[in-house]
Amino acid sequence: MCCSIVNFDINGCNYKLPVVYGTYEKAINISQLRENTGFITFDPGFKNTGITKSSISFIDGEKGKLLYRGYPIEQIINKCSFIETSYLLLNGELPNTAQLKYFSEKIKEFNFLSQEIYQILDKIPAFYHPMGILSSLTCILTAFTDSIQEEEEDMYFNLLAKLPILSALTYRKKVGLPTDYEVVSKNNNNLDYTSNLLKMFFSVPKKSYQINPVITDALDKLLILHADHEQNCSTTTVRLLGSVHANLFSSVSAGISALWGRLHGGANQAVIEMLENILNSGGNIKKWIEKAKDKKNPFRLMGFGHRIYKNFDPRAKIVKKVAENVIQKLGISDPILELAKELEEIVLKEPYFIEKKLYPNIDFYSGIIYQAMGIPKDMFTVMFALGRLPGWMAHWKEMRLNREPIGRPRQIYIGYKKRNIH
Ligand code: ACO
Repeated sequence: MCCSIVNFDINGCNYKLPVVYGTYEKAINISQLRENTGFITFDPGFKNTGITKSSISFIDGEKGKLLYRGYPIEQIINKCSFIETSYLLLNGELPNTAQLKYFSEKIKEFNFLSQEIYQILDKIPAFYHPMGILSSLTCILTAFTDSIQEEEEDMYFNLLAKLPILSALTYRKKVGLPTDYEVVSKNNNNLDYTSNLLKMFFSVPKKSYQINPVITDALDKLLILHADHEQNCSTTTVRLLGSVHANLFSSVSAGISALWGRLHGGANQAVIEMLENILNSGGNIKKWIEKAKDKKNPFRLMGFGHRIYKNFDPRAKIVKKVAENVIQKLGISDPILELAKELEEIVLKEPYFIEKKLYPNIDFYSGIIYQAMGIPKDMFTVMFALGRLPGWMAHWKEMRLNREPIGRPRQIYIGYKKRNIH
């Protein structure tokens, strides 16, 4: 039933609040609530709060559906590349051939890094976590680009070019591969975005880099699946930074830091660590499930549960298939994949997980694919960040175009009343 106003009573006084309708959601507009009633709302974790109107992506958590600009993720994954998906998210429509060529060529124009960044990277100890390095270097990029003056469109191309270079350098430093310009950022070939990304990671001097289409395809699919997910924690962080007119680089840097958290993007690393722990401690899955159910134990089954999905995460279904395909085509025998499948099967029959509607999320199988590609565990969340970049930028752009106000929640203060120092 549609209504444009909701009526409610507080202490015998009647108030009316307008209703806002989106394509699927409906919301009570409380922007005048405090002014009119003296009350604010209390919603820890923003579980029921719409912070913006957005047309970028939509999740139907009850049905387990995800749309990018209206297109189901299952169609995008079969018909589009990551770079087409990035265009779609940033511009609202899929590109035609000329638009795609222009977009790809513009990214290549920014495929370089100033020498100072190499010098800074040189000073960072190799044992630092790659997400900390990536976030810091992304923020430092601000110093090397006049993004206030710069054409806004160029900032998006610049970051789409720079984040893969910074990620590749972080990886190469970590594993002791050379990090010089010739090897990493010089893109004088006709490689597509994802193949070039892999080349920057894995190429060795004086050897021509051989593209493995199985790996390129799997990585491209992973990047697409991570590309946007409406108002998740890191995207909200990027939007909040943008709302105070922080520039794109520092906003995305903050998004990377938020993504690092183990309850968010950091879960992909945590999942593999958990699976390895289960395997190394004898493979007793039931014992670990009991641990996850025990309220006195802070342990959670990583890769299960989601704030919005109360049904299967559609991305998890696709990732599982991609993982099986990669493992089979590369001829790897992976006990971790077998364990993951067994764990999933048992968990899906467990009343605790059924009642709480906890299903595998995207992070449950993604690490298995990264591992098959030769990417170390602490780089997994970096790969997530590379995928999420177009989504972060699309939200930042949308927020600016909508001239959204500063993101500044209120609080229920429960501290001391005013007191004096004696
Ligand atoms: N294992 C065991 N119990 C769980 C799990 C889990 N993975 N996830 C949620 N629960 C339980 C909670 O203990 C809680 O139980 P209670 O109601 O009895 O107190 C209930 O389910 C609801 O959990 P919340 O934390 O309130 O749900 P929320 O929506 O805030 O959290 C989250 C979602 C953070 C993803 C959670 O499910 C979790 O911690 N999962 C494991 C980490 C993970 O995989 N994160 C990746 C998410 S996808 C992404 O960000 C890319």
